[in-house]
Amino acid sequence: MQHPRSCTLRWRVLRDQLRGQEKIKIGNQHGNIIVSARDWPKIHRKSGELPDATVLCGEGNFSLGLGFAMSEHESRLEILRFGKMLHERGLIAATDGNVSVRINKVSVMITPTCLCKGMLNAEDLVVVDMWGRKLLGFRDVSSEIDMHMTIYRMRPDINAVVHAHPPTATGFAACGLALDQALISEVLLSLGAVPLARYATPGTSELSEVLVPLIPHHDAVLMANHGVVTYGCNLEQAYMNMETVEHFAKIALVVKQLGCANPLPAEQVSKLDEMRQRIQSYKSELRSRA
Ligand code: 13P
Repeated sequence: MQHPRSCTLRWRVLRDQLRGQEKIKIGNQHGNIIVSARDWPKIHRKSGELPDATVLCGEGNFSLGLGFAMSEHESRLEILRFGKMLHERGLIAATDGNVSVRINKVSVMITPTCLCKGMLNAEDLVVVDMWGRKLLGFRDVSSEIDMHMTIYRMRPDINAVVHAHPPTATGFAACGLALDQALISEVLLSLGAVPLARYATPGTSELSEVLVPLIPHHDAVLMANHGVVTYGCNLEQAYMNMETVEHFAKIALVVKQLGCANPLPAEQVSKLDEMRQRIQSYKSELRSRA
């Protein structure tokens, strides 16, 4: 891991997003903190820490929603952990995929582009504002930033997004097949149907546009000739949704091979739909109690 003091710090906080129009720059090539605006909250960075500043708000505890000392650090570790799992479990290969976490109301942490997401270091991660503009980090942001930010903007209940290329589910997407048959009760309970978005070039706003009609109604979507995107209230849930999609795709493949699919009838599907809604509200109540 690169020592933060040897890094060139290029931390930028876009002041217009927070307090006004003026941009301020934080940090220099020696790793010292420079705060170039008066009355700006003090930035503290202890030597030897990861390059994630603790933002201390002065002036009557003025909160910018950027007090992310612990949660930002935890988010870094979670992204590294789930990136490693995606890679080790064959849901991504080489430099495929990307992972992000909403770290507060105004910013998101996301993996960098063109690196193996199973072998990242904490300082490789990038923090962006809600329009995907870089706030913190040395690396270039994921090429799929627009897709991630579209999901966060459309779904305030979503705090993490995972994009991967799981082989079986991506095989369905490459054949133009959605995973929307009512084959397995547990999948209907956890995810419901997994629709297929039509093909759009990866890393373009066109890809976000084809996802827009599906995002409000689904937590997992196949992207034709590309891969899968899943999201959830936290990174564990978003990751588990990805596992569920791939596991269900394997089952659906076996069903196709056996050639005698026996989907659930409509009345059973609506019963499961109702149960899913009850389970979702129970889970969100548990989260609000925690
Ligand atoms: P990034 O490395 O830019 O995140 O892209 C990986 C990918 O899977 C694009 O769809």
